[in-house]
Amino acid sequence: MVEKLTDGVYWVGVVDWSIRHFHGYELSVQRGTTYNAYLVVDEKIALIDTVWGPHRDKLIENIRQVADPSKIDVVVVNHSEPDHSGALPLVMHWAPKAEVVVSKRGMESVPGHYHERWNFRAVGTGDRISLGRRELVFVEAPMLHWPDSMFTYLAGADILMPNDAFGQHYATGFRFNDQADQNELYYEAMKYYANILAPFSDRVAKKISELLDMKLPVKMIAPSHGVIWRTEPMQIVEKYRGWAAQTPEKRAVIIYDTMWEATRMMAEAVGDGLAAGGVPHKIFRMALSDRNDVLTEIFRAKAVVVGSPVINGGLLPSVSPILEDIEGLKFKNKIGAAFGSYGWSGECVKLIEERLTKCKIPIVAPGVRAKWQPKAEDLEACRKLGAAVAAAVKGA
Ligand code: FEO
Repeated sequence: MVEKLTDGVYWVGVVDWSIRHFHGYELSVQRGTTYNAYLVVDEKIALIDTVWGPHRDKLIENIRQVADPSKIDVVVVNHSEPDHSGALPLVMHWAPKAEVVVSKRGMESVPGHYHERWNFRAVGTGDRISLGRRELVFVEAPMLHWPDSMFTYLAGADILMPNDAFGQHYATGFRFNDQADQNELYYEAMKYYANILAPFSDRVAKKISELLDMKLPVKMIAPSHGVIWRTEPMQIVEKYRGWAAQTPEKRAVIIYDTMWEATRMMAEAVGDGLAAGGVPHKIFRMALSDRNDVLTEIFRAKAVVVGSPVINGGLLPSVSPILEDIEGLKFKNKIGAAFGSYGWSGECVKLIEERLTKCKIPIVAPGVRAKWQPKAEDLEACRKLGAAVAAAVKGA
């Protein structure tokens, strides 16, 4: 259902309730997502972003409820990733003469995806296109989160359309932030930041300062996923400022996997030590946990404690991927520790500590190893490890 944001501005996107994994690799989207596209009807008609290709017919159907798609004059492609540009060929089929507005880096990526000679126009920060009563103003936002990423601001309506920034993978029946479950909304916004934008936190902080310096009045922030921020729209900007600073909460996450329960018992003993030290914690068995949800918890937390048994001289295959994720997402200001069980070669703690060090996570307490099944003194050593991590968290 098309939604009016204000006079002459419409959401014409698609709600995808059924998707659970995003992009080819596993980004879990347990609450679905939306692909937001916006139609501005003025003396000229502009479409800001499209939707993922499989939903292209629905986009055209939605546009038709407001305007004839063949009358579109301007199509802004803020970012070429196919969840936003996938319907572009169909839009251009209906409006072949429309100007396709992209960032300078978009001049490479959009033709790189579609191999078409559309009527392209490259814009940079501060460039403007008048639609009549209103004007599109562009702000380049490279690496938030692709080189081609760009924000579009609709002057006159005071709506910022920042594409992926400030979004959430969150399918809802209503379109605006005040109509959503606030706990779900903020969890999904943080999950999105932790799993997509965290590596670019320095750029996020700079871009927010640049935007605030531009002193643009902002009545709404209309991202390309999730709900539109119309009630106190700057609340999500303030949240992003905090997330970009990566100042963690005084809490801990234990991630582990287990073959015959030895490492599970150790994980729970580490948790007991954290609890005794007064630090809230969560424990995740990685073979049974959603990696992106666990990464969100790690993003929030000061400490990450990792456990694995040894198999074939390495870590359990269910433990390794999240260590790669942590390294790639460049989480900052964390501390870490390791534990694990073994039968003969016993390199689990050493391997985990090497991986954490690669993630730039300092080890704050000596790791604990238990041979075969943990004895009472091994579990006591795990409790002491948890207590040492708790002390480091509280002292941080
Ligand atoms: Fe939502 Fe980077 O695409």
